[in-house]
Amino acid sequence: MRIIKTKDYQEMSKAAAAILVAQVILKPDSVLGLATGSTPIGTYNQMVEKYEKGEVDFSGISTVNLDEYKGLDKENEQSYYYFMNQHLFDRINVDKDRTHLPNGMALDRQKECEDFERIIQDLGGVDIQVLGIGHNGHIGFNEPASAFEKGTHCVALAKETIEANKRFFDSADDVPKEAYTMGIGTIMKGRKILLIVTGEEKADILAKALWGEITPKVPASILQLHPDVIVVADEAALSKMPK
Ligand code: PGA
Repeated sequence: MRIIKTKDYQEMSKAAAAILVAQVILKPDSVLGLATGSTPIGTYNQMVEKYEKGEVDFSGISTVNLDEYKGLDKENEQSYYYFMNQHLFDRINVDKDRTHLPNGMALDRQKECEDFERIIQDLGGVDIQVLGIGHNGHIGFNEPASAFEKGTHCVALAKETIEANKRFFDSADDVPKEAYTMGIGTIMKGRKILLIVTGEEKADILAKALWGEITPKVPASILQLHPDVIVVADEAALSKMPK
């Protein structure tokens, strides 16, 4: 595991974007695994900036996203599809046909999970997977549980997650109660993992995930077993790092 400690959120975003852009420059047909949430917004802005400056060409990449709310369609402003278009895809020269998220409106959940796994497989796997971490240690929507879930699956969101995400909705009642997510196994198959973390309120869970017991109760702790993880986090997020 490599840890890049940055001064603040802006520096974290720059460092994370530099890693992703380098990946694309070195391998123009990279498969990027992407994430939503507040944390990656700055990273995506930096990627857009580098694209606008002509430093990188995204026309050859494919993308897969970690997760999507069940029951929200692509046009819904709270859907992760919409988020990705708004923050990244509409602002760079990615081929939209090669951007993939689980379909929140799928009628057959089992089939949707299998289809999504197949898409990743057919792309040849993920070259670099961006992850944030939830306050409860979730990655994607893999919530604390009694066992690590392997493949893409449909989950009931934890109460803390609904609480944390209600800021994007009119009220907690409007937050979908279920979501599709890559499984822990799917995430761990990514050849490289880029975990981005900001802020003091993530310091405790980040320390538990990186240096605590490996347990499905802290889903991100599994990353300790991945051979190629880069953590880009600001000082505040790393403030509980063991001395
Ligand atoms: P956040 O979410 O970036 O909005 O804090 C992270 C996550 O839940 O994975």
